[in-house]
Amino acid sequence: TNVHYYNFVLKETKFTRLCSTKSMLTVNGSFPGPTIRVHKGDTVYVNVQNQGEYGVTIHWHGVKQPRNPWSDGPENITQCPIPPNTSFTQQIIFSDEEGTLWWHAHSDWSRATVHGAIIISPAPNTTYPFPKPYAEETIVLGEWYKGDVMAIINDALATGGDPNTSNAFTINGQPGDLYDCSKESTYRLLVNYGKTYLLRIINAVMNEEQFFGIANHSLTVVGTDGAYIKPITTNYIMITPGQTMDVLVTANQALSHYYIVTTPFADTTAPFDNTTATAILQYTGKYIAPSSPSFPTLPSYNDKAAVENFTKLLRSLASKEHPVQVPKTITKSIFITVSVNQLYCPDQSCAGPNGNRLSASLNNISFQTPTTDILQAYYRNLPNVYTNNFPKQPPYYFNFTGDVGNNTIFPSLGTKVLTIDYNDAVEIVFQGTNIGAAENHPMHLHGFSFYVVGIGSGNFNNKTSPKSYNLVDPPEVNTIGVPKNGWLAIRFIANNPGVWFMHCHLERHASWGMNTVLIVKNGGTNATSIRPPPKYMPPCSKS
Ligand code: C2O
Ligand code: CU
Repeated sequence: TNVHYYNFVLKETKFTRLCSTKSMLTVNGSFPGPTIRVHKGDTVYVNVQNQGEYGVTIHWHGVKQPRNPWSDGPENITQCPIPPNTSFTQQIIFSDEEGTLWWHAHSDWSRATVHGAIIISPAPNTTYPFPKPYAEETIVLGEWYKGDVMAIINDALATGGDPNTSNAFTINGQPGDLYDCSKESTYRLLVNYGKTYLLRIINAVMNEEQFFGIANHSLTVVGTDGAYIKPITTNYIMITPGQTMDVLVTANQALSHYYIVTTPFADTTAPFDNTTATAILQYTGKYIAPSSPSFPTLPSYNDKAAVENFTKLLRSLASKEHPVQVPKTITKSIFITVSVNQLYCPDQSCAGPNGNRLSASLNNISFQTPTTDILQAYYRNLPNVYTNNFPKQPPYYFNFTGDVGNNTIFPSLGTKVLTIDYNDAVEIVFQGTNIGAAENHPMHLHGFSFYVVGIGSGNFNNKTSPKSYNLVDPPEVNTIGVPKNGWLAIRFIANNPGVWFMHCHLERHASWGMNTVLIVKNGGTNATSIRPPPKYMPPCSKS
């Protein structure tokens, strides 16, 4: 295995989009940020230098970091923020990941502008489980805010209401030619007729799942979240914030230009026409130019069935080289309700709707971020940082997906973690609820990939639902959308000791508390215990 070194300089940089200029935090002055390229099993050291104005952390999304939570990055979970004018070197240890992952800031909303791709090629002397593509391209889906993103979330939290939505989605940093002042800069993917391209698509959007497609070209999905899958040939993909998809596209059409489009699945927000970002697939050489490129037909913004049908197609490769290791018997079973609800303010102190404030919760606990990181508190036995009592089931059972009044269930605040024994065979059932505006929730777990063994609509039934489980070739992912008014079951072996954040990857839900932490205990030996901490960790101001 090889070792690579990168320098990431966080700094304010001026960018112009949608006819106006703003200063925003970037890595090395680029948006999206730099790509990290490795082979399977390599190690990377990234020297993160913060030349910005506030403390930030960086997370390597989907990298399992065996026994190495010290470099995982979520703010005040595994480290405190890197103060301005200081640096922190993070060690990123790759193990079995292969395909596409990404990195992003993990402090408040700074990931809107601070993110980039991680590309993991097959180990030397091995190859893809599909014919080698002619070339590859990274496609990062993002979101552009004319305003300052940190101010947007801070204002929303102060008033208890919804944060402002962005002004455009972006493809490789560009909103595309449907927007003012954006025609010239529209991203172009240049292709040669007859060749097959591997697109590494990353959803770095803050708050919306996306439908993505290319006019007249079918997509063959061959991987997701740094693992291969059985090929899916489709006209569109559905990708949640946090997910990646590796897609093969063959340039086999007659004209010179075709639209590449991303548009949200969003049942409560802005309609289709205001939110479509475009790029152009352009054939090189002498081709007939259409009067205007054709547009892909994508599911409409509220097409819930299109989301679920796509997710159900995902299957692990389950080959000799890429085996499935899903636990068949479970030693730790957890049931978690996922809700967007309102926090009760007894003295009417919060200015949100009905004197309440918007909030989000897991098992009715709205997560409160501590001021000292939980990893340090766990490792050094510091008191009063967290409590060890995240509930393994909701406080009471009701018709979760039935007719539930918006304000009937108020969450409580807490920094509650769930402790799991080393090598536990874990099952988590996520149950969506109809409290508030029911939505899909892309749940993400740090430190692991997990198998999605079951998915269904309505309430989970512990007698009948497990009968539908796929234990043969379930997809292995790190982020998956828990369906609106439905449930989803995941399994994994807790073989990675550490402190691992688990949260919804819709940023407004995470800000409202749809988070918790899994602490996986050490096994009996050094090789099954958390590695020793690095010599330097960023200081916590209050510790
Ligand atoms: Cu993409 Cu907690 O992260
Ligand atoms: Cu959510």
